[in-house]
This record gives sequence, structure tokens and C-alpha cells, in this order.
Amino acid sequence: MSGSARRVALDIIGARIPPGAYDGFARLDERDRALVKELVTGTERWKRFLDFYISWFCHRPLEKIAPEVLNALRLGTYQLVFMGLPPYAAVNSVVECLRAKSHRGFVNGVLRAITRNPGHIELPSLDACPKQYAGIRYSFPDWIVSRYFGSFGMQDALALLKVQNYPPPVTLRVNMTKTDRAHLIKTLQNGGLSARPGNLGISIRVVGGRKVSEFPGYREGLFAVQNEAAMIATMVLGPTRGDVVWDMCAAPGGKTMHIAELVSDAGLVVASDVGKHRTALITESSKRLGFGNISTAVLDATNPSEAANVLESAGLPVCFDKVLVDAACSGLGVIGKHPDIKWMRRESDIADMARRQSLLLSTAARFLKPGGTLVYSACTLTQEENEDVWRCFLDAHEDLIPVDETVRFDDGARVFRMENGWGYLLPHIHGTDGFFIAKALKRQC
Ligand SMILES: C[S@@+](CC[C@H](N)C(=O)[O-])C[C@H]1O[C@@H](n2cnc3c(N)ncnc32)[C@H](O)[C@@H]1O
Repeated sequence: MSGSARRVALDIIGARIPPGAYDGFARLDERDRALVKELVTGTERWKRFLDFYISWFCHRPLEKIAPEVLNALRLGTYQLVFMGLPPYAAVNSVVECLRAKSHRGFVNGVLRAITRNPGHIELPSLDACPKQYAGIRYSFPDWIVSRYFGSFGMQDALALLKVQNYPPPVTLRVNMTKTDRAHLIKTLQNGGLSARPGNLGISIRVVGGRKVSEFPGYREGLFAVQNEAAMIATMVLGPTRGDVVWDMCAAPGGKTMHIAELVSDAGLVVASDVGKHRTALITESSKRLGFGNISTAVLDATNPSEAANVLESAGLPVCFDKVLVDAACSGLGVIGKHPDIKWMRRESDIADMARRQSLLLSTAARFLKPGGTLVYSACTLTQEENEDVWRCFLDAHEDLIPVDETVRFDDGARVFRMENGWGYLLPHIHGTDGFFIAKALKRQC
């Protein structure tokens, strides 16, 4: 394994950027790229646990250690504890890639102490201080641990924290306008991938390690990569042939494509987003998947007059059969895929997000036709952004009636159930991303 991969990993961790955004990353061979990704994501995922581990063997307080040196210790400890690399490889590879030679002795000393005493650390007691235990054992900040304990109870919180330390399975949604699930599974298997039916009639689980864009059938648009929770949000919306749907926060367009498939050429999807460059992603996907019934628009949907102006001047409808508000949110439901959310997100962000989500819902209600369907979804697990936003919205809109849905998974064991018009999909229960989904119907006049 290459020493330069460790150097690149250290640079990426220090710069807090995704591997693909780092100049030297593309120049690495495929094996080193995979190693860098594993090192960067693993170190990010387990940062709090690694710091706790290091602090047992290091006499200096961690806050007094220079960032690059601390990151090198984290990288070395991750290789020893999680990757099981032999001490000579794990320690030397990190020590040698440190730029500041004066720190090499210190890093070598701490990592050698760890190799001499593997596992010799003591976590806080689960019985005496369960939240502290959970925060360190599962490497989460205290504020997320406290919220999970408060919302889901201790047992579920522990299970949720544990499962969010693993990337979710790769799932594909079959593009039924071009193929069917059985054929696509065969195509993927013939291409050397391990593919099997997912938990929904439209989903496939794939194990491969290859880039999805290299899967057979990708270029032909036979599938979209999508988590099953996101598929369920569209299933709950229930678009049917001929519907005119507004996907209000649409980019990069995962749900837009699913809606476009269901409304068919007889219908229309208006896919809007506030991000100018982000709507290009929707156009790209619609070309690959072969949908000509999507119109994109750049607008700020918290501002209903601006939204109306943009839609009208583009000759688009301003009254919809169905509206999906898949709001920007704190993202706690997708920590399994994006572990940086644990450390980047601040609890203080939540109130502001909830305010914007409420504005988006008010706009949606204005543009929904009588008898129309509104779905609100968010890939997060905070009560303020989910049930609180939804309840306030319903209180202020008496013409919207909450609707319950039940989605049964193919394994017969798991069910997504909504009560009072809303429900949660949870990674440790449903095997999906964490998602909040709510639905209401607008009363006929
Ligand atoms: C969770 S993502 C949507 C994911 C998308 N629905 C999908 O399935 O691929 C939220 C999106 O909302 C957009 N957004 C945030 N504020 C917005 C606003 N005020 N108006 C419209 N879109 C907004 C963001 O740019 C982001 O692309």
C-alpha cells in the first residue's frame, strides 16, 4: 500500500474536502483511491472514538496537539483498530508521511504504545452514563446522542447510532419505462456484480465496489441510484398518469425522475431548485433516463410571488395536482453516507432550517389545486424540522387534511406506517436512510 495515499488522505482530512475535490486524488491508481476513501471516511466517522482511544496513550491534551499531528494519530489509530493493519505497516506509513519531521518521534511513540496495548481502554459505563458511553462508543456528538435518546428511547437510540456508522447498501431504482427488475438484475449479474432484489418491487441491492457509472445499463438509463427511503417518499406522493406535479426542491433530481416515470408523457413535472447549477443535474439525469416531461426552473420557493413570476414567465403551470416538498434539512438521516454531518452540523442550525421549511410548505399549499396532494419529506431526524413543522403547518391550513399511508416491504417483515399523516423511516428498523414523510390532501372547495 502506498505511502503517498496516506499523505493524500492526511491533506484531505486537514482540508475537510471530499476526496474527489483534491487535486492529487485523480492521479492515484484505483487501489490507492479506494484506500484514501476508506481512510478519510473512516477517520471522519470514528473521530470521537479515535480521540478517546488516543487520549489513553498520549500524555498531552489533544487540544494542544497541532491539527496535522492529531490527524496523523487518528489515521494511524484507525488503521490499527479498525483496519487491523499490522503495527509495522500502520505506524511507519503514517509517521513517514508527516511533513514536520520534528513531530515524527511523538507520533511514533503514541502509535507504538497503542500497538503494545491493543484494546486497553475503558469506556464510560453504559449503565451509569449511557449517553456518554454512546457518544464515545459510536462516535457521535453529545447533542445528537441526546436527541436520539429523547426521540426514540435508549434501546432504539443505541441501535440507530450503531447502524449510522456504516454506509447504507447501494440501491438502484429500476427505470420501468426501459426494463424490468428481473432483466436488470440479470444484466448487472452478467456484468460481474452481485445484484439481488431490494425491499421494494422497484429496487435492487448491489454489492460491487465499482463506480456506479460503470455498472452495465447505467449509460442506457436502465436505473437510477436511489435510497429506498427516497423511493417511498415518491410512492407516498402517488403520482399517476397525466398528473401535473411540482417537485419544489428538486435537485439533484432523484425523486423528479421517479415522478416523471409515473406521470408518463401524459403528465408534467416542474422541477425547481434555488441552486442555479443544481438544476443542470436534473437535466443531465432526465437525458440519461429518457424523460421528456420535465421542465426545470430556478427559483426561491420560500418566496411565493417570485415562484409565481418565474413559473408564469416560463409558461409553466402555477396550479398543481401534486406538490412534493423535499426540503433542505440538517441531514441527520443520511449520516451513514455522509459522516462529516456529525461534526459539521450545529444544533443551532436547526431552528433556521425549520423556519425555511415552514415557508416552503406555505408556498406549496398556495400552488396546490383543491383535491390535490401535498407530501413533505426531509432526510433528518429532528422533531423541530419534522413533526413540529408539519403540525404548525396543518394548524395554519385548515383546508389540508392529513392522510395516512402504509408501505409494506417485500420481505414481509418491515412496514412503513404513517399515523396522523406522518411517519419515520429509520435505518435500524427499515434498513433505509432516516427519513420523515408527511402527507395531506387539500379539501375540495
Ligand atoms: C434534500 S435536497 C433535494 C433532493 C431532491 N429532491 C432529490 O430527490 O434528489 C434539497 C434541495 O432544496 C434546495 N433548496 C433549498 N432552499 C430552497 C428554496 N428556498 N427554494 C427551492 N429549493 C431550495 C437545495 O438547493 C437542495 O437541492
